Amino acid sequence: MKKIVVLTGAGISAESGIRTFRDSDGLWEEHRVEDVATFEAWQRNPDLVLDFYNQRRKQLLEVKPNAGHIALVELEKRYDVQIITQNVDDLHERAGSTHVLHLHGELKKVRSTLDESLIYTLEGWELKKGALCAKGSQLRPHIVWFGEAVPMIEPAQKYTTDADIFIVIGTSLNVYPAAGLVYYVKNGTPVYLIDPKAEMLSGVKNLSIIRETAGTGVPKLVKQLMDKE
Ligand code: OAD
Repeated sequence: MKKIVVLTGAGISAESGIRTFRDSDGLWEEHRVEDVATFEAWQRNPDLVLDFYNQRRKQLLEVKPNAGHIALVELEKRYDVQIITQNVDDLHERAGSTHVLHLHGELKKVRSTLDESLIYTLEGWELKKGALCAKGSQLRPHIVWFGEAVPMIEPAQKYTTDADIFIVIGTSLNVYPAAGLVYYVKNGTPVYLIDPKAEMLSGVKNLSIIRETAGTGVPKLVKQLMDKE
């Protein structure tokens, strides 16, 4: 089976009702990254950081996958599909995608502040002050904050290099190392970019731009790829 690798960002979840980060109504318009998404913020004001991610987690219980997430599942009937997502929601999994790599962590998981290998799935939406890991330290959101290492980038680079088709959906390609993945694609591999604000990517050959939302653009591309040959 041919390998399809799909890199997704906040835009694929926008039509489910989850706000993106950098659009005009985005999350980073209302919150400063330095206040809620860095380790220093966590040390300075853990209550604020806990509340920020508790609100995100609470909202996740109220939304569902949209036509974009759902269409990607269909591709698995014909292709070996690996999703690499920058999103911390679980909408790809809930839609039914079976291979999902989370580059920036997962909202539903929490981890020890002492030992990063101690990861737990949270029941419900609220991570409370005083919730401890097995070694007795406060649990923190399982999120890759700005300035922290991105442990899953190496497998992501490998998947990208091995891809026969590479699809990018709903990301401003502002945050590295995720934004650099597209440069790991082998020469000659078709690259599709679905985003209403998509622009040319310099240095990327065989690029097809689909300037549509994920809800309409992804089902169209999936149909095209399923009908191929
Ligand atoms: P951004 O908010 O930077 O970009 C969202 C992209 O989605 C933009 O290019 C929009 O044009 C596009 N978009 C908006 N609505 C869309 C729709 N309905 N369908 C398709 N595309 C749409 O989000 P990301 O690129 O995902 O990291 O941001 C990357 C990282 O920055 C996030 O993972 C997060 C953030 O800070 C962390 O928190 C570690």
